[in-house]
Amino acid sequence: MINAGNIANYNSFLAKTDFKYIMAAMDYNKFDLIGFGAWDAKLDMHTVHKVADRAATDLVCANVEDFVPFLRFNKDSGKLKVLVTSVIDPQLLDLFEVKDVVASDPIKAVNRIKNNIKHDIFILIVHAQGERIHEIITGCGKDADLIIDGETGKVDNKTRIIAGKPVVVSNFGGKYITYIDIVRAGQDAGFSVDQPVLTRVVSEKVTPDPQVEALVEKYGKERRDIIKAKRERRERKIMKNRKPVNIYLGSNWCGSCHQSIVENWQKTRHARAINTLEKKNKANDPECLVCHVTGMVNRNAVGGFVSMEVNAKMANVQCEVCHGPGGKHAQAPSEVRMTPVSEKGCRNCHNHDTDPDFSYQHDLTIVNHGKDLPGKSK
Ligand code: HEC
Ligand code: HEC
Ligand code: HEC
Ligand code: HEC
Repeated sequence: MINAGNIANYNSFLAKTDFKYIMAAMDYNKFDLIGFGAWDAKLDMHTVHKVADRAATDLVCANVEDFVPFLRFNKDSGKLKVLVTSVIDPQLLDLFEVKDVVASDPIKAVNRIKNNIKHDIFILIVHAQGERIHEIITGCGKDADLIIDGETGKVDNKTRIIAGKPVVVSNFGGKYITYIDIVRAGQDAGFSVDQPVLTRVVSEKVTPDPQVEALVEKYGKERRDIIKAKRERRERKIMKNRKPVNIYLGSNWCGSCHQSIVENWQKTRHARAINTLEKKNKANDPECLVCHVTGMVNRNAVGGFVSMEVNAKMANVQCEVCHGPGGKHAQAPSEVRMTPVSEKGCRNCHNHDTDPDFSYQHDLTIVNHGKDLPGKSK
């Protein structure tokens, strides 16, 4: 079991926690190795090494010191030797502005391993972009049986051929697995790799594993605590600076002046988005909540959703999701306008993953309370 790397989103303030738990989950699921990628290099290296040192799953990189350079698996009573390694392009590290990871020449590093370690099958993970993928494969991957492109990250069941070699892409989001069969034509014949097959992991079909569920539960709690602490820090700061800050009120407030609109909104699924999560037992999962509630991540206002225990009244996709926080407007409606509704706002939640068929023009007509579309002349 190989993971091509880039396992946590380094942009998130939860990146360290994510990394720790994803590693733990892979470890539990007996992954053999992870190919160290640019996103991993963006994390705090101290944490990366600390977590990796404790895991049975190895973080592999042929051309960065302090990492396991390769792994070799002996299968079929030792008759089959599978060599796997991973490299990262120094130019990619420059591109990502990584400061505390130094990579040597990837081509030399791989050739050294490949020429010295006996093997029947050779699998290479490459972390590079654009032309450099070609250069690296040409330089050291010409006799690889399979190459994994650790950077492209898109769902694609077509195996690409680069420098005459089959190259599969890694797929972000953990929703897909590519598998290969290793075959042998006859007793004395050598081994070869069959066409890679990309397959979607459909969660409904997988029986939940109690230990993984417990891990997810623990992860959820740690995330909630971090988010809560961060939020409290921010609210304290806002209070201290006494900046005139806006506040979320909730749809009941709006209803005191816009009653018919509230009734109209209640007919949409936005008004029941939390029930959808409750049915899935996910009303405590910040990862889901962020799109099924109001004002959870806005940095410029207070009063947004925190958790079902703290302020359940901010659950569901309410008025202020589309119109912005309404505290100031409610105090002086004709002086303080609400934020204009925007397509970008919708797409924060209706993204490529959650709603691939989203059409702003069409979907707006379901949620605009029967009003004219913006831009349309009255
Ligand atoms: C905070 C996240 C979020 C934002 C922003 C958001 N939506 Fe939604 N939307 C949802 C969720 C979640 C659902 C599904 C609710 C459910 O069924 O649980 C949904 C459902 C819908 C539906 C189906 C409604 C129905 O009653 O059938 C439409 C249409 C829609 N959204 C349009 C929009 C448009 C247009 C915008 C921007 C003006 C928008 N949404 C902004 C989260 C959001
Ligand atoms: C990035 C925003 C976002 C996140 C995160 C998110 N959702 Fe949603 N969810 C939506 C939107 C938008 C819809 C409405 C899609 C549609 O049907 O048009 C939706 C709809 C749903 C539906 C109804 C789907 C259907 O076809 O009836 C379920 C169930 C759901 N979400 C569960 C979850 C769970 C569980 C999580 C966490 C694992 C989650 N969502 C995380 C945005 C999100
Ligand atoms: C999914 C997004 C969405 C949600 C949720 C939503 N609205 Fe709107 N609202 C719109 C759109 C789109 C329009 C049309 C005009 C525009 O584009 O600004 C609109 C228009 C309005 C207007 C102006 C009406 C007019 O006569 O011009 C008011 C007032 C309003 N909404 C109040 C509310 C209130 C109150 C709620 C909560 C009960 C709410 N909206 C929830 C998207 C939304
Ligand atoms: C005290 C009464 C009152 C409350 C409370 C109130 N509004 Fe309004 N709202 C108005 C009035 C009056 C207008 C029309 C302003 C004008 O045209 O001068 C308005 C206009 C709007 C508009 C049209 C665009 C704009 O900014 O003029 C939107 C959208 C809107 N309100 C949303 C909301 C939302 C969402 C809430 C709840 C957070 C809310 N309002 C709470 C009285 C109120």
